[in-house]
Amino acid sequence: MQWPTLFVLGVLSTLSTALLRFQCSQLVVQRLDPLVAPGQIPSTHLHQIVGGNAFNVTMDPKTMDIPTQATCTSCSFSEDFSNYWTAVLFFKARNGTFKRVPQIAQISGATAGITVYYMQDALYDTKQASKVTAFKPGFRMFVGDPTARSKADVAKFRQLTYTCMANAGSRSPETSEFPSTPCAYGIMANARFPTCWDGVNLDSPNHMDHMSYPVNGTFESQAPCPDTHPVRMPQVLFEVVWDTSKFNNKADWPTDGTQPFVWSFGDGTGYGNHADYVFGWKGDALQKLMDDACVVNCPTANAKTQGSAAMNKCVQTAQVKEDVDGWLTELPGGMPVTYSK
Ligand SMILES: *[C@@H]1O[C@H](CO)[C@@H](O)[C@H](O)[C@H]1NC(C)=O
Ligand SMILES: *[C@@H]1O[C@H](CO)[C@@H](O)[C@H](O)[C@H]1NC(C)=O
Ligand SMILES: *[C@@H]1O[C@H](CO)[C@@H](O)[C@H](O)[C@H]1NC(C)=O
Repeated sequence: MQWPTLFVLGVLSTLSTALLRFQCSQLVVQRLDPLVAPGQIPSTHLHQIVGGNAFNVTMDPKTMDIPTQATCTSCSFSEDFSNYWTAVLFFKARNGTFKRVPQIAQISGATAGITVYYMQDALYDTKQASKVTAFKPGFRMFVGDPTARSKADVAKFRQLTYTCMANAGSRSPETSEFPSTPCAYGIMANARFPTCWDGVNLDSPNHMDHMSYPVNGTFESQAPCPDTHPVRMPQVLFEVVWDTSKFNNKADWPTDGTQPFVWSFGDGTGYGNHADYVFGWKGDALQKLMDDACVVNCPTANAKTQGSAAMNKCVQTAQVKEDVDGWLTELPGGMPVTYSK
């Protein structure tokens, strides 16, 4: 399935929907993880982080009000001080050294980063009429299993996928492992979070148990939420486009026919794809957007937005000082690379 051209160009201006699709430029690339490893400098593996500049080694909701503490955001909605982050992709050369793969911003003018979606209904449903409850202050969640190295390991995560992109509009097929052949445009990593909330807990020890997938199928197939997690939340989707095109020379690929990309946490299979979300919208700005008729890349009456120059200006200096851009003899933090079990 190919995306409608309009969608790719981001000019769905004639459709009335509350599906949000927006770019967040890169805030910082560093080894910090306030969700999984609060207080730990450095965390085990490298992340690329976007969103509000209150991002820090510790972001305890008991002592921190993110929208108050942040003074800027790298996202196009200027009242969205949330943080969104993923691991970082590396190319592993035949000589065993690693090079960080750059990212492509899908919305022109932005620098790298993540394209973020909040959906009320399936992506292709242009009505987006269903009610969703926006996340609350202090809410955060995680999806995926960094230790997964097989299809069976990731079966419980319904929509953590990759697309081998022939061009900027490629959206299929989606696979749960890294593409096995060179991708002319790049590799898109997709992370769709669970969408059903227990209605009580803003977080949980594994950052996942307070959320659930629908009883069967997916959010997109309109399956209901389970009784244990009855509150229907927006579908949050991250798209990250990795510009693997400069590493497409097969002569540089492993001699055994495998593919050369590895995640910063040492995953050579792709099954360990995971993503982190820390909610930080100001007041009820997100709920208003979700309740409002609004087009893709919305500015609506209720939404304050900013241009790419302001987004790109919102950056942080890495607190963890280390080379993440050269040809590295090992992954940052010395993460060993592992393949299928
Ligand atoms: C991160 O937290 C430390 C310790 O509380 C604080 O000094 C620093 O200003 C914070 N950095 C940012 C960017 O908020
Ligand atoms: C390893 O291979 C890469 C890619 O071919 C090259 O750029 C780099 O200089 C090499 N490093 C060493 C130490 O040979
Ligand atoms: C999902 O579960 C509901 C309720 O148990 C059932 O009615 C429906 O047929 C199921 N759908 C699929 C696609 O399995």
